[in-house]
Amino acid sequence: MDALFFTLHSGLPHEGPGSREDTLRALALTGLSGRLAVLDIGCGPGPSSLVLLEALPEARVTGVDDHAPFIEAARARVAAAGHGPRFAAVEADMAALPFEAGSFDLLWCEGAVYIMGVERALGLWRPLLRPGGRIAFTEAVWLVSAPHPEAQAVWAEYPEMTDVDGVSGRIAATGARQLGRLTLQPRAWEAYYAPLEARLDALAPPADAPADGAADGAADATLARAIAAHRTEIAVWRAHGDSFGYVVFVVAP
Ligand SMILES: C[S@@+](CC[C@H](N)C(=O)[O-])C[C@H]1O[C@@H](n2cnc3c(N)ncnc32)[C@H](O)[C@@H]1O
Repeated sequence: MDALFFTLHSGLPHEGPGSREDTLRALALTGLSGRLAVLDIGCGPGPSSLVLLEALPEARVTGVDDHAPFIEAARARVAAAGHGPRFAAVEADMAALPFEAGSFDLLWCEGAVYIMGVERALGLWRPLLRPGGRIAFTEAVWLVSAPHPEAQAVWAEYPEMTDVDGVSGRIAATGARQLGRLTLQPRAWEAYYAPLEARLDALAPPADAPADGAADGAADATLARAIAAHRTEIAVWRAHGDSFGYVVFVVAP
């Protein structure tokens, strides 16, 4: 991650759409409870890890991310909430997870499966599960057959994006069984975008933000362009959020 990314994203509670309520709804879909070993893959600053630790008082949660500052943020956040002894934070690549086969009951992944793609992720991760284990992940999907062109432009960097049935087909192609799915609610997007928008406003109040990204110096211009792109992303969700969404899929491998 570069310094610019961190200027915009450090210290945010979420690095993608997600909310306590939706994480709890997804956990209920897994049917699991009790003394679980949970792995939160692409944990970022730890929003899901924290909710899972609170909801599963006997569980141990391991958070994995390849961005060291997020690992530190997750560790500090969980410790501040008093759950540090049941949490481990590991800096690692989700494509080469450093755990023995059969180590976990539940693999959790909010907003990060797109990095590997569903089929590759399920194939690589399923050996980590114990018998009866479950995988829960969120994936961005098209919610309509003809998404608004501005929504298509914002998501152009993710050409593999499909609809809910497309993701279900990718799950089935791995031989896994889909147990349930649910769409993240608007509050999950606000939980991500409201603090991000406040960050953007602090860096460049809207009235000062140059529309074309022009500013003094290359670094300022790059930052201005990044701020403008983030503002566009948020505005497109507010205007055309019916075109796309994030869906939780719960599967048995
Ligand atoms: C969209 S964020 C979601 C973070 C968090 N789950 C949340 O909901 O706030 C994706 C996360 O995946 C992490 N990531 C990206 N590539 C990775 C990789 N190859 N291995 C592990 N983590 C990765 C990023 O650092 C980031 O924290």
